[in-house]
This record gives sequence, C-alpha cells and structure tokens, in this order.
Amino acid sequence: MKSLILYRSLYGSTEQYARWIREELSAQADNFDNVGKYDINDYDLIIVGEAVYAGQFMTPKQLIPLVEKFPGKKFIFFLVGIADMEDQENREKLYGDLAKAMGPIIEKIKVFFLRGVLDYSKLSFKHKTMMWLLVKYLKRKPEKDLPKDADKLISSYGQKINFIDKNAIEPLVRYAKEISK
Ligand SMILES: Cc1cc2nc3c(=O)[nH]c(=O)nc-3n(C[C@H](O)[C@H](O)[C@H](O)COP(=O)(O)O)c2cc1C
Repeated sequence: MKSLILYRSLYGSTEQYARWIREELSAQADNFDNVGKYDINDYDLIIVGEAVYAGQFMTPKQLIPLVEKFPGKKFIFFLVGIADMEDQENREKLYGDLAKAMGPIIEKIKVFFLRGVLDYSKLSFKHKTMMWLLVKYLKRKPEKDLPKDADKLISSYGQKINFIDKNAIEPLVRYAKEISK
C-alpha cells in the first residue's frame, strides 16, 4: 500500500510526528500546502496531520473535497495537541472539534490523537497573546468552575511543556499496516 503523509505544523511537533510515521511506513511526507503536487490516484492511504489551536483546525476546508473526490481511498487524520490524550474526555472534546469542522465526512476518516509541545519562547506574538488571555481568564474563575487541566495550564504558563513521544505513533502505524494487508 502506498501512503502519502500531508501535515501542517507551525512549531514543528506535527512535522516531527509526520517524519516518524514516514520512516515507519516508508511513505512520502510533505506540507499539506503542497497537496497539488501529488496525484492522489497514485496512493492508497492519505495520512493528514495537524495541531489544534483553540479548538480550531486549518486543514478541513481542503481535506473535505479531497475525501469526497476519492471515496475509494483510505484516510487517517492525526491531531496534535497539548491536552492529555490518554484522557477520554479530552479525546471526545477534540474529536468533537474536528467533527464540527469536517461535517459528516468525518465518518470516513480514522482519527488518532498525539501529544505535542508548547514552548512559550517560540510562540508568535498572536499565540503568546492568546495564551496570556486564556490564562488570565482561567485565573479569575472560581476553582470549582475550572475546566479540566486548567490548573496545569496555569502552573506551566511561560514554560516549555514537551510531551512529544515517538512511541505514541504506534497505534496509528499498526492500523495503517493492518489496513494495507
Ligand atoms: C494559542 C494556542 C492554542 C492552543 N489550543 C490548543 C487546544 O485547544 N487544545 C490542545 O490540545 N492544544 C492546544 N494548543 C497546543 C498545540 O496544539 C501544541 O502546541 C502543538 O504541539 C503544536 O503543534 P505544531 O508544533 O505542529 O504547530 C494550543 C497552542 C497555542 C499556542
């Protein structure tokens, strides 16, 4: 089975996961912006990776027509975020965010969750401001009303939090290999 990995990565963690997956599957990997360079007919499996920013994704607008155009192809989406991906509630929330962006076509995509990096020293001005506003807002809330993991977000504010883990790609790689049998 021939696989193509297309990713978007602002600070490198999604790209790192894409590289590891590429090595394991002997696939091709490229930035999603270069999708036009590839003839999707040549591939059996398309793996798309993107990080979540404030519950939002950039790729669905281009991914939806791709899935619609190639109903016979297999699609995997791996989403990267800083949330604890072992936590079922977090997964459901992130899956919901993605499903909202993708619409009913989400049913045709197998979704995996990977944990990334949040390095305040590397963030753009816009993202630094977003995080500052978020933490300021959370700090004002009574403790009983705080959303999940808010305390960790507040205590780690301004630092580097790194959860990137090569082993985390294992379920995705296993699934990709199984469907190619
Ligand atoms: C402004 C901002 C908003 C974010 N929002 C979320 C979020 O809603 N959920 C989440 O799990 N991670 C969130 N993150 C964490 C990123 O998804 C994480 O840093 C990811 O590893 C970035 O991937 P990249 O390096 O490929 O761009 C956010 C990060 C920033 C800077």
